[in-house]
Amino acid sequence: MKLIPAIKLRIKLLFNYRVHGKYSKIRKNDIFLVSYPKSGNTWLRFLIGNLIHKEKVDFNNFNSIIPDIYLTSKQELDRYHSPRIIKSHERYIESYPKVIYIYRDPRDVVISFYFYHKKYNTNFNDSITEFIQKFINGVDSRYDPWDTHLKEWFNSPLNAQDNILFLKYEDIKTNEFKAVETVAKFLELNADEQEIKQAIDNSSFQKMQLLEKKQSNTSSYLKNSNKAINFVRSGKSEWRKYFTEELKNQFKTKYGNFLIELGYEKDLNW
Ligand code: PPS
Repeated sequence: MKLIPAIKLRIKLLFNYRVHGKYSKIRKNDIFLVSYPKSGNTWLRFLIGNLIHKEKVDFNNFNSIIPDIYLTSKQELDRYHSPRIIKSHERYIESYPKVIYIYRDPRDVVISFYFYHKKYNTNFNDSITEFIQKFINGVDSRYDPWDTHLKEWFNSPLNAQDNILFLKYEDIKTNEFKAVETVAKFLELNADEQEIKQAIDNSSFQKMQLLEKKQSNTSSYLKNSNKAINFVRSGKSEWRKYFTEELKNQFKTKYGNFLIELGYEKDLNW
């Protein structure tokens, strides 16, 4: 951390001024939902929120049920009752006590991320090719590079202690019930079959997309974004539409072997 920002942060903390949620003191029973951006974290927040919360989760209330460390101040986070479930995109943080880590095929992550920038960032002018190249080179996001993010969490002591649950976005799509049942067990929730099915139904792609449409002018998460692009956008694997042969080759060089390790490909012939 540079000296001047570090001093400014200390002054703000001293006077309990509005500072970033990531400076909230971590509690022993906190649970963090961690991911590289665009890997399905919001879907997971809806699924868990619908399991634990009496009212249905939507785009107006989801951040108060499962707060995002970037959209919630330290003061607000400090006021939450335990156990808190908190969303984060951070690279490995030693003090996170219990984590659900969701990951997704990075070729779809980068496409989703591109449309996210077009939705939220008015100064964003990259072509999709330029953006994919930046993703491969790991220079676009403070959470880069994608594989290091996952490997750091995977190789962490948390994993050795069984305090981290890894979820693959694509596996949730294949067998939602099994995935949500596993999440419920990990969180030690007493959710029966009916409650799990209800949470899945209330968090379906179609229902979330409908909620987005209805609440696009009331949700603080949606109202100042480009409405022509949905947040709950496609939910599909679309990278083949956007990757040139050249981009595929660059991607294989950078992430090809890791894609095989994660079961996304059998070999490098794709
Ligand atoms: S963020 O901004 O980093 O928190 O984004 P994140 O929520 O992690 O990822 C957004 C992508 O998740 C898709 N999504 C879903 N997929 C399947 N089912 C449901 N219910 C669902 N809800 C959100 C969303 O559409 C984004 O993916 P893309 O590929 O852009 O559609």
